[in-house]
Amino acid sequence: MELPIELRLATEKLVSGESIGKMTDDAKELSRRYMNDSGTGKSLLGKKSEAAVYSLMRMPATYGAIASAIEQVCQVSDFVPRSFLDAGAGTGAGSWAANEFFKLDKITCLEREEAMMSIGKKLMAEASDNALKDARWIKADLCQLNDSYKADLVVSSYVLNEMLPEDRMKVVRKLWDNTEKMLIIIEPGTPVGFQNIRKIRDVLIEEGAYIAAPCPHMEKCPVVGDDWCHFTTRVQRGRIHKMLKEGDVPYEDEKYTYIAASRERCNTSDIIGRVMRHPIIDKGRVTVNMCTVDGIVKKTITKKDGSLYKEAKKISNGETLRAL
Ligand SMILES: C[S@@+](CC[C@H](N)C(=O)[O-])C[C@H]1O[C@@H](n2cnc3c(N)ncnc32)[C@H](O)[C@@H]1O
Repeated sequence: MELPIELRLATEKLVSGESIGKMTDDAKELSRRYMNDSGTGKSLLGKKSEAAVYSLMRMPATYGAIASAIEQVCQVSDFVPRSFLDAGAGTGAGSWAANEFFKLDKITCLEREEAMMSIGKKLMAEASDNALKDARWIKADLCQLNDSYKADLVVSSYVLNEMLPEDRMKVVRKLWDNTEKMLIIIEPGTPVGFQNIRKIRDVLIEEGAYIAAPCPHMEKCPVVGDDWCHFTTRVQRGRIHKMLKEGDVPYEDEKYTYIAASRERCNTSDIIGRVMRHPIIDKGRVTVNMCTVDGIVKKTITKKDGSLYKEAKKISNGETLRAL
């Protein structure tokens, strides 16, 4: 997964002339705050220079996670959103990702931090697409959200984990109230992120939502013990990104977990299961761990399974295996 070229150039332009030392210090300080102060409801970022560094350091990964989740949702739903709400937009990764998939007419970004809004707007000003250029940025605290931001597609990515636990489910209900077609909530792919997503899933089912993805069913989540449901997306990293994150390889693997809830029933009936973890491919057989309506199932598919085997050979973590 790669950032759209005009977004990548726009993030690099933000820091042209900046000293590498200052950017590296900002990057380290941001990582420290995200590590120590997430889940406290505190503001984690207040300066424009930090927001610019956030866009360089984190947007490729959050964009990748959002785009991958949308891609998976599109496999089970043919919904066509025209309006989009990016709740806790940060520097706008969700809007750029959604706009790559859909020809959006209207984008609204809700964000609490002026610094993030300012950088998000600057980046969108560089877009060639009108929906991004004309996006509405509104300063708002999601904990005080009302129902006046209704949109076909609502995305909230890497936001709920920053809030106090007692605020999260209240916000989820409000996000759902603002959803006309599909709501996608993405969290870091950690055990804690997954525990949040599991609670969110329960709340959304209680609210009458149809689960679109990743679960191929609406039964109780079958993940037990210290296991957690998460997916990985590989994102390309540029020169500045490598420097800020002190990495050598030209890519980064972002782990994320998510839930997508729909107003309409989705096309999940022919799904055998969603692959969790990397399939094991041996000569003549593929073994996959899948989440299914009957729980977590280990399935071995062999050459004898014909076209299903051909499908299974191509499948990777996070994808669905469908009956042919
Ligand atoms: C880690 S960033 C994620 C930004 C963006 N969604 C992305 O995926 O790149 C979290 C964002 O949520 C915003 N945020 C956290 N709590 C918020 C709240 N209560 N109301 C509005 N925005 C909030 C933060 O200011 C920050 O910009």
